[in-house]
Amino acid sequence: MALLEINDLGVSFATNDGEVNAVNGVTLSLDKGETLGIVGESGSGKSQLAFSIMGLLAKNGTARGSVKFAGEEILNAPPSVINPIRANRIAMIFQDPMTSLNPYMRVSDQMAEVLIHHKGMGKSDALRECVRMLDAVKIPDAAGRVRLYPHEFSGGMRQRVMIAMSLLCRPELLIADEPTTALDVTVQAQIMTLLADLQREFGMATILITHDLGVVAGFCEKVVVLYGGRVMEQSPVDPLFADPSHPYTRGLLRAIPRVDQEDEDLDSIPGSPPNMTRIQQGCPFAPRCDFALPDCSEHLSPLTEFEPGRLRACNRSLEEIA
Ligand SMILES: Nc1ncnc2c1ncn2[C@@H]1O[C@H](COP(=O)(O)OP(=O)(O)OP(=O)(O)O)[C@@H](O)[C@H]1O
Ligand SMILES: [Mg+2]
Repeated sequence: MALLEINDLGVSFATNDGEVNAVNGVTLSLDKGETLGIVGESGSGKSQLAFSIMGLLAKNGTARGSVKFAGEEILNAPPSVINPIRANRIAMIFQDPMTSLNPYMRVSDQMAEVLIHHKGMGKSDALRECVRMLDAVKIPDAAGRVRLYPHEFSGGMRQRVMIAMSLLCRPELLIADEPTTALDVTVQAQIMTLLADLQREFGMATILITHDLGVVAGFCEKVVVLYGGRVMEQSPVDPLFADPSHPYTRGLLRAIPRVDQEDEDLDSIPGSPPNMTRIQQGCPFAPRCDFALPDCSEHLSPLTEFEPGRLRACNRSLEEIA
């Protein structure tokens, strides 16, 4: 049985301009210990996909479809089902560290609270475990600094605190949503190396959400490419880089900065992301796709396996886009 099984997941938001369809029919699964990258441009539905798994959608949002964790349905599940799972068996690192750190509480208190609440630990055992975890994320002088407030840490150190906090209960699944966007480039690399080491050490399944296909290369076994809230391509990492099967993935690959290339040569994909208030009949990428034909704006082929483990949703054949 897969650890996480998402089936035909949809997320929409009621707004004054009509319904925003942020996630449209996403199906994917993740095994124990597996690493999955979810990649797409800003607005492609990555965070809302994660929030719906965690039961954390904004009030104007609704989710449909199915999300099973260890065989149990957790989508729109009542608090009695989701509360013991959230933070305990599925943990999330948010785009903005201050979303999950309380600025008015010492790190020691907020970390210990998690263990006292979820694991029933006593205060002093909990504190010892917090220091151990801050050590594991390589915070120097963890025993001394555990008593600091979040703002007393630098951005990079604060992100380490967040990671330590998310791992406290030894979750089976970690969802990291753009864990390094707020950091400068060298610190980003350190945090990604740390996350990869911890993933190996603790063996938890991990979903890494990013707009940068470059960072999934060193971290993930497989990748899902989202556009307009839909899966365009799903593949193990290596063949996706060697031979992307979707015009959108190719565009993303061309947009990865490379050390041997001047910045001016970077090709961002022309055009802008789709209007999510319109119900998409056809392929959401069609208006920006070099290979689109008139039928592409009318319908989109379902996600289809074209090689073991590799799936694509594109009306054009591999030969046509070669
Ligand atoms: N509460 C809300 N009400 C209306 N629309 C929303 C709401 N929350 C998100 N959206 C819309 O849902 C779509 C997907 O948003 P999402 O946050 O998942 O994007 P993302 O892929 O995570 O982007 P980024 O890379 O910028 O974080 C966007 O069009 C966004 O404007
Ligand atoms: Mg996001």
